[in-house]
Amino acid sequence: MTRTTTRPLRQPGVDVHLRPVRLGDWPRIHEWARRPDVTQYQAWGPNRAVETREYVVAAIEAAHQVPQVRHVLSVVQSDRVVGLVELTVVDVEAGIAEVGYAVHPDVWGRGIATEAARHAVRFAFDELGMRVVTATCDTTNVASARVLEKLGMHLEQTIPHDVWVGRRWRDTHVFSVRAEEQRNALSATPCATAGRVA
Ligand SMILES: CC(C)(COP(=O)(O)OP(=O)(O)OC[C@H]1O[C@@H](n2cnc3c(N)ncnc32)[C@H](O)[C@@H]1OP(=O)(O)O)[C@@H](O)C(=O)NCCC(=O)NCCS
Repeated sequence: MTRTTTRPLRQPGVDVHLRPVRLGDWPRIHEWARRPDVTQYQAWGPNRAVETREYVVAAIEAAHQVPQVRHVLSVVQSDRVVGLVELTVVDVEAGIAEVGYAVHPDVWGRGIATEAARHAVRFAFDELGMRVVTATCDTTNVASARVLEKLGMHLEQTIPHDVWVGRRWRDTHVFSVRAEEQRNALSATPCATAGRVA
């Protein structure tokens, strides 16, 4: 059930691919993890350098766990890390995983989060055998909500006063998509190469 990506997940259109995060990625990741405009919707951050490095170290350790629950994938464009996608198996028996993502502010608005998350969702369904992928976002995070809508996700519920994000309580949208829904949506889009599984 739980597998590791061993080669990049590639997608046409937006020229990015996903690969497991590496230790050397952390300074680049820290370029956005330290920014209040990036972390304003999250319970974490803005990070200190040591916190970002520890996050990456923990993500790499998680990739070696059996079964693997956390899949932290760097989003790479032209050999440069431009974002991060995290896929977490939250219920193996029920086949439920959660996806999250962040993109470097230098390249916001170019479809990178949408393509990266689309292929993480495909990986969850096709390679990990998940049945449902969920995602959450602050109700005021319109860019993230738009990404989830473009993925074909449905708004399932809104949880008021859900997460403390520094100076306020966040209301949280919960989105989800089932495997059969995603397959129908993807059948209308160019096919990507799924990652081989070990
Ligand atoms: C949310 C985030 C990942 C989006 O990344 P991205 O690569 O810019 O996303 P995309 O380009 O794929 O899509 C963004 C969509 O939101 C729309 N959008 C962005 N800002 C918007 C705004 N203020 N109002 C309305 N729509 C907005 C864009 O127009 C685009 O939709 P479109 O393709 O229909 O035009 C990025 O802003 C980010 O990293 N934010 C900080 C971390 C974060 O919030 N992560 C999500 C946690 S739930």
